[in-house]
Amino acid sequence: PCTGVVIVAAGSGTRLGMGIPKAFVPVAGASILTHALRGLVDLPGRVAVVIVGPPGDDERRAIAEDALDHELWIFGERLVGATVVDGGASRHASVRAGLGALPAACDVVLVHDAARALTPPEQFTRVAGAVRATGHGVVPGLPVVDTIKRVDASAYVLDTVDREALRAMQTPQGFPFAGLVRAYDSGAGEATDDAGTFAAGGGVVEVIAGDPDAFKITTLEDLAAAERLIARRAL
Ligand code: CTP
Ligand code: MG
Repeated sequence: PCTGVVIVAAGSGTRLGMGIPKAFVPVAGASILTHALRGLVDLPGRVAVVIVGPPGDDERRAIAEDALDHELWIFGERLVGATVVDGGASRHASVRAGLGALPAACDVVLVHDAARALTPPEQFTRVAGAVRATGHGVVPGLPVVDTIKRVDASAYVLDTVDREALRAMQTPQGFPFAGLVRAYDSGAGEATDDAGTFAAGGGVVEVIAGDPDAFKITTLEDLAAAERLIARRAL
């Protein structure tokens, strides 16, 4: 087997507001991107990794290349690709750029947000294993705990949505490689996640259990929560 991993790290991090692209913001002494790469450690078989970085940013490209060198040497001969490519204006465009840089020999692809920096290694292996076992798209998700209401344009409540039927999506999202490339190439509209694009292309997607630690670092509060989680893990 060969698992291709696309780590999207081209976003600007507007909501975090640190003035630098989010994936390059330090957390407990290492960048968000470096923490994300550490999640790959338990992947079996051959592995190819593409980091999708901020376009036209040579300084960040060099930093991302260093991160690949420092974090992925552990794979030895099993590492069959490690590159950095320029992202696009949307996450969709960034994923597409990443897919184009993976070796055709990969049977499974995992698409991961660098911003989900503390995703446990076990979530990567579980998603990849489920894709191989089923041939489906596989997405980790969590039950929704809050009561969810639909509102109109003036914020008047219309109704309550049955939360039993809802899951909040995380990454990595896993797919048969050829199937995801086909879905992106068919240009079936800009879905908000990869599972949406895969499903628009006719693919079946199942949700498996996610992990609270795979939360997306979006705001300064999330950055503080990430620092606390790393400190707790070090105990
Ligand atoms: N991403 C990307 N290319 C884009 C936009 C987003 O590669 N054009 C990536 C981000 O780097 C991140 C992931 O997609 O790892 C999820 O996006 P998000 O959390 O929204 O990150 P940002 O877009 O950077 O943050 P913000 O929306 O606050 O600006
Ligand atoms: Mg964004």
